[in-house]
Amino acid sequence: MLTPTNQQAMHRRQFLKWAGMSSIVLTLPFGCGINEAESSIHAKGELDPSRFKNIFDLEKRAGEAMGEDALNYLNGGADDLMTVRANHEAYQKIQIRARRLIDVRNISTSIELFGKTLDNPIILSPVGFQAFFHPDGEIATAKAAARKKHQMVVSSVSNYAVGEIASASGADLWFQLYPSPDRGVTKALLNQATDAGCKVCFLTLDTPVVGNRENHGTTLLQMIASGELEMGNFKNILPEGMSFTDPGMTWEMIDWLRANCTMKIVLKGIVTREDALLAKERDIDGIVVSNHGGRQLESNRATIDCLPEVVEAVDGAFPVLVDGGIRRGTDVFKALALGATAVGIGRPYCWGLGAFGQEGVALALEILKSELIRDMQLAGTTSIQEITRNFVTGV
Ligand SMILES: Cc1cc2nc3c(=O)[nH]c(=O)nc-3n(C[C@H](O)[C@H](O)[C@H](O)COP(=O)(O)O)c2cc1C
Repeated sequence: MLTPTNQQAMHRRQFLKWAGMSSIVLTLPFGCGINEAESSIHAKGELDPSRFKNIFDLEKRAGEAMGEDALNYLNGGADDLMTVRANHEAYQKIQIRARRLIDVRNISTSIELFGKTLDNPIILSPVGFQAFFHPDGEIATAKAAARKKHQMVVSSVSNYAVGEIASASGADLWFQLYPSPDRGVTKALLNQATDAGCKVCFLTLDTPVVGNRENHGTTLLQMIASGELEMGNFKNILPEGMSFTDPGMTWEMIDWLRANCTMKIVLKGIVTREDALLAKERDIDGIVVSNHGGRQLESNRATIDCLPEVVEAVDGAFPVLVDGGIRRGTDVFKALALGATAVGIGRPYCWGLGAFGQEGVALALEILKSELIRDMQLAGTTSIQEITRNFVTGV
């Protein structure tokens, strides 16, 4: 019989194994950059929104506030970061075809998605370990998302448990699932999400194993190994033999999930027409075109380049979302024009979190939404539904 302390130690060892690290990191001296930098910067609380004109300004500030290791973890990706860069750069070759003489005094950004009316189409994609960026982690993010009326998706590997995040923030959350080969563990995760009120489950498909992230340091792993950071959702799950991802997962998993989950099911990580067509044969509710922000397979195409063929294959059967590289309102506009029902952002809101906690997340969301509204006005569109393929060229 395992004692709680033994369980925690095993849990941490398994995380290190999953992350491709040996338990040697347990003995390394502790990185201190993030804690020292954070406490000084956050104590000052010096958020003057007028100094942050765009997401890149927040990124710069996050770099100063978070410390090198946390920033490398957040900004890092697979191998040589070609996919990380491609995701963003691909938006630059697309141009907007603006229309004129349209009354743009009243703009609506609202959409219907997975049975819910959303104020706007900019969703917070799941990002794990947010307490690495700021001590309030996912709770700060969820509070800001609720306040600014953006939908948040909580990662399986959040530091705070999904139930804790829901009750501390009052936010209506969706959940992202990393399936374990042990379906009992997966079922326990699903139960936690359902109990927390989540109505939508994003199953991540692009992580049979963790990508080769050479620029990641060891501070996060040390913090988990020492117990300074927890993985909230796994705390009460017996972790015997547990892994956080399942390299043996196949399409059978989708059928299992349908039978074992009352939430709507969204497949996160589809990047080809072939898989979009296979997804269409299953009982699912949506797709996210995603390459995990370039953190998994290197030399992926940019997600915005994958979107058109996926949208074409899905042919309206269910909503298609896209994430990766979105940094500007115009990027959101272009993705919507190419057929996305909504978009996800990852790093942008985490830069806000790292820079200023809850207020920084709120600022990141505010910047993107106000850019989108202005871009809609300049392009001559008054609702999200009006943003169609005719509004872009260069694809
Ligand atoms: C630090 C970090 C952690 C992430 N953690 C997860 C995760 O736990 N689950 C998941 O499905 N995707 C995860 N992602 C991928 C995001 O959900 C999203 O696909 C990606 O960040 C979008 O690209 P962007 O950061 O350029 O906006 C993570 C991304 C980052 C940057």
